[in-house]
Order: sequence, then structure tokens, then C-alpha cells
Amino acid sequence: MVHNHTMNPKPISTDFTKLFGGIPYPIIGAPMFLVSNVDMVVAVSEAGGIGTFPALNFRPIEAYIEALKQIKSRTRRPVGVNVIVNKSNLRQNEDLKHALDAGVEFFITSLGNPKTVIDDAHKNGAKVFCDVTNLAHAKKVQDLGADGVIAVASGAGGHAGPISPFVLVPWLKKELDIPIVLAGGVAGGEGIAAALALGACAVSVGTRFIASHEAHADDSYKQAILRSTPEDIVMTAKISGTPASVINNDYVRALENDDDRTASLAASTGASAATSRPTWQNVWSAGQTVGLIHDVTPCRDIVERMAREYHDIVDKLAT
Ligand SMILES: Cc1cc2nc3c(=O)[nH]c(=O)nc-3n(C[C@H](O)[C@H](O)[C@H](O)COP(=O)(O)O)c2cc1C
Repeated sequence: MVHNHTMNPKPISTDFTKLFGGIPYPIIGAPMFLVSNVDMVVAVSEAGGIGTFPALNFRPIEAYIEALKQIKSRTRRPVGVNVIVNKSNLRQNEDLKHALDAGVEFFITSLGNPKTVIDDAHKNGAKVFCDVTNLAHAKKVQDLGADGVIAVASGAGGHAGPISPFVLVPWLKKELDIPIVLAGGVAGGEGIAAALALGACAVSVGTRFIASHEAHADDSYKQAILRSTPEDIVMTAKISGTPASVINNDYVRALENDDDRTASLAASTGASAATSRPTWQNVWSAGQTVGLIHDVTPCRDIVERMAREYHDIVDKLAT
């Protein structure tokens, strides 16, 4: 069959796409601290996936309310907000309320206890998926009423989990009754095909979308994504205190060797003797899919290319 590349790729229907009224593709534009913005969310949702962003990318709260308003005026398709549910996030309840008022359909929670988010979102008919990296946490959020889990595997950007996606998804699948989304290691259609084969119903894609026209990232950061290999990705706890995956460079090496940095993180002063404060000028957050990314292109292209590749691969597997 000859594919007409001016046509939208065929839909990929799963339990996830059905949960959101039949969106075309089971592709979440993952929430990324500092990187996600209004243009990305709108572009991913308009392309047939579901765009999401961390509420805390917009400060003060007025900027967040304005972002919600803009997103909702520019797309009628579902969008998602990532709420960090721990005690240090003083905006949690306000963030949730404004998103629900704006009609946000989807929430991703990370870190602590998602109970309030689940209960309040359900009053509005919104769905809540919780980031998990193991079975114990996944069962806990299922008991709290989560609509699904995002299984964050090894190799992911951000706070990657320790477990291979090949094990994590089927391990959770056997024990859970709610849908599973795979996060980590997916940048192309082969990743969607593999994720669905493992038992996931969608993929959450972060790093691939940093190399997009819309991403709020410096050009040097986007170029570093193109240039890097999976071997350049290291986990460091020296930025926030929680291990996060970054592109290794001289600055990261200096941080890793800075024992005062560990002490200062423990004391929560954020200051460090030997090195200046990490910023996105000197630390680039990314996952192992850097090895699979070769161009900076619009979000719509990324979504459509992934869907097209998925169908090509599934066709090939069937013959
Ligand atoms: C730059 C960057 C920032 C991230 N920030 C967040 C965040 O604020 N909240 C969150 O839940 N996950 C965050 N993540 C994780 C992503 O949401 C997603 O789980 C991950 O990127 C998936 O792995 P991938 O990068 O291999 O696609 C971030 C990831 C990256 C690369």
C-alpha cells in the first residue's frame, strides 16, 4: 500500500483513546518542567494526541489561569495538567480548582498522595492518571480510585524509574485492573507498537517533544538532544535531591563531584560552594531517546510521524 503523506495517518484506537471520547492517537505529550508551554499543548492535542503541562510552569498563579484560558480557547480537544502532589507544592489545591473550572479533562499526578486530585477531578468527570515506578505504588493509587497509571520506566526523561519497560508494563498489567500508560523510551512508532504489545494502552512521550519547534527550550538545548547518544544520559540527584536524568556535560560532572552540593540539598538552602546554581543554561534534562531523535520539527509532525510508523510496523509484523 502506498501511503499518501498529505493524509492524516489512520487512528490508533485503544482503551485510552476511548476514555477521551475517541481522540485519534494514544500519544500523550508528557508534562515537562520549564519546557511545556501553551503552543505545545495545543499543537499535540490538535494533532490528535493529548497535550499536557506542569501547572508550575506558569508562575504566578495569574499566568497559570491565563495559560489555561488560552489553551482552552485554541483547542476544543482534551488537554491535561500535571499536578505535583507533595507538601512542598503550596499551589496544589488552587491549581486543581482552576484547571477544573477551565474544563481540563485529564490530570497527571506525580510524587506524593493523589487522593484530593482524584476525588475533585471525578466530581467534574475528569480522568486522573498517576505516575508510578513500581507495583506497590500502582496498587495504592488504584485503591485511591485512579483512572490509570503512568508506568515510568528506566531510560525516561525526568524522574525515571529503575525498571525496564519490558518488565514494568507486563508486571503491572498482571496485577492491576486499571489502564497502563508507558512513559520512557518512546520516540517513534516502534515504541507505540511495543508498548501496546506489552499491555499498555498509550505512551507518554517527553524527550522527543523537546526537539520540536514549539518547545520552550533554548536552541542549544534542542541541538544537544540531536547530538547526544543514550550513553550521554546520566542520573543525578544533585539538582533537586531526587534522581533525574540529564545530558552529561562538564557542569554535571562538576556537580556530581561537589560534596557540598549534597550537604546543601540536605539543608535545602539550594546554594552550593563549588558550583553555581543549576539552571537550564547549564543542565539539560532528557532521557535515553536522545539517541532516536534526529530533527527539530513541529509537534504535529512528531505525532503524525509516530502514528504512521506505528501502522507501517504493525503491517510489517502481520506479514
Ligand atoms: C525536560 C523534562 C522535564 C520533565 N518534567 C516533568 C514534570 O514536571 N512532571 C512530571 O510528571 N514529569 C516530568 N518529566 C517526565 C515526563 O513527563 C515523561 O514521563 C518522560 O519524559 C517520559 O520519558 P521520555 O523522555 O523517554 O519520553 C520531565 C521530562 C523531561 C525530559
